[in-house]
Amino acid sequence: MNLNTDLFDNGYLVVNKPVNRTQMEEIALEYGNTMPTSFLSEGVYDKAAINDKYASHVIGHTSEHSIGSNLGWHQDYAYREPRYYGLILFGLKNSHIVDTHLCNLRQLFESFNDGEKSFLRECSFLHVDPTHSMRYSTSRPLVEKHPITDAEILNFSPFGFLPESYETKEYKMIMERVSDFTTIIKWRDRRFHVIIDNYQFMHKTERSKEHWNEDPRRMLRIQFDYSNVT
Ligand SMILES: [Fe+2]
Repeated sequence: MNLNTDLFDNGYLVVNKPVNRTQMEEIALEYGNTMPTSFLSEGVYDKAAINDKYASHVIGHTSEHSIGSNLGWHQDYAYREPRYYGLILFGLKNSHIVDTHLCNLRQLFESFNDGEKSFLRECSFLHVDPTHSMRYSTSRPLVEKHPITDAEILNFSPFGFLPESYETKEYKMIMERVSDFTTIIKWRDRRFHVIIDNYQFMHKTERSKEHWNEDPRRMLRIQFDYSNVT
C-alpha cells in the first residue's frame, strides 16, 4: 500500500493501530520533516510531554479552556509560514469527549460550477490567528494548489476572522456547503490513529459532551511537512 497516495486521495486515513510517540514520529518522517509548534498555551498543551523539537506533544484540553472546548472551523497555522501540511492524532485518554469535524476543501471547491470557481479564484482570504487577534495575520489567494497533487483547494479558515468578513459573498457560498463535505471522527482511546492532510481540510471541535476538568482529555499529536513525498 502506498500510504502517500492514499492520504492525498482520501484526505485522511484512519489506521486501526495504537501508536506510541516514537512510532508516530516514524510515520511522520515517512512524509517529511516534523514541524514545531511555536505557540503553546497553558491549558491546551501538556508541556511535560513535548519532545525536544516541539513537534510531537500531548494536547490536554479541559472544559474550562474556552478554545479547547469549542474551536470553530480552521486550518491549523493557516496564518503562519511555514505551515505544516500533515498531522497524526491518537486518543490517549478521554478522547471520546470531543468529536473532530473535518471538512474537505478540495471536494467543496470541486462542487462549484465553472462560473463560481472563476469568481472564487479571484478572491483572497485573510487568515487571522484566533488566539492572538491581529498579531499574526496573512492574506492569501482563496484558491491554492495542493503542494503534492496540484488539485485546487480552498484556503479557508474562518475561525478568528474579522467580523465584517463574514458578510462576503465567498464566505456565504462556502459555508452553505460545509456540512455536505464534513466527516466526523468519533474517538476511542488507544484504538486507532488518524493521519490528516491538513492542507486539504479545515477542522473544528465541538464543545465537550461531559464535564472533564478533573480528568482532562489527552490526545497525542504530531505535525509534519511533505518534504519526503516524491
Ligand atoms: Fe486545529
